Amino acid sequence: MTHLIAPSVLSCDFANIQRDVEMLNNSNADWFHIDVMDGVFVPNISFGFPVLKSIKEHAKKTIDVHLMIVNPDQYVEEFAKYGADILTVHYEACPHLHRTIQLIHSFGMKAGVALNPHTNVSVLENVIQDLDMVLIMSVNPGFGGQKFIDNAINKVSETKELIASKNSKAIIEVDGGVNLETGAKLIEAGAQVLVAGSFVFNSDNPSATIDKLKQL
Ligand code: DX5
Ligand code: ZN
Repeated sequence: MTHLIAPSVLSCDFANIQRDVEMLNNSNADWFHIDVMDGVFVPNISFGFPVLKSIKEHAKKTIDVHLMIVNPDQYVEEFAKYGADILTVHYEACPHLHRTIQLIHSFGMKAGVALNPHTNVSVLENVIQDLDMVLIMSVNPGFGGQKFIDNAINKVSETKELIASKNSKAIIEVDGGVNLETGAKLIEAGAQVLVAGSFVFNSDNPSATIDKLKQL
């Protein structure tokens, strides 16, 4: 598959959400990446259901929700109701990860698991066959606009090997500090979905920037 681009709405202009959502609808972006932060799992609070609801009303593409929250099980049903197509939880926030994955699937969503920069890929050995996506964090989660951590490239290669060795159908997404340079290295290593926030929305022409990422 050719790689997908998932712009992170966290970096959009929240006073003009509809305008930015329409821009993404009309661009070559593949997914909407929605970052939900609770101020507990990560040191920042982003937005919750009312904002997701407004985005969903206008968005015409796959809704990819990245939960950076403790106790995500409590909200899985509500995210399904508000239109999430893919729901990704953090390994570090889920003591009963297998149960959480089953819960996500039971509401008809695809299930992803995100790994913080310090977390070994090997922790997914026993659930990789149940996953639709692995999200490799290439920054410490919590904020847009941070510097890319190079070790993420090795982790993408390791994830690709793990997926192949277990015959898993999971795809690999990478999130944090993605630009043309880091994006090219990630794709070479096996990344299939690139999340990009500040690089897209802080550029003069976000739609053209998405094209450039898509052409990598
Ligand atoms: C970070 C979020 C990212 C963030 C990426 O915690 O998960 O999705 O918006 O932003 P950039 O691309 O600016 O690093
Ligand atoms: Zn994210």
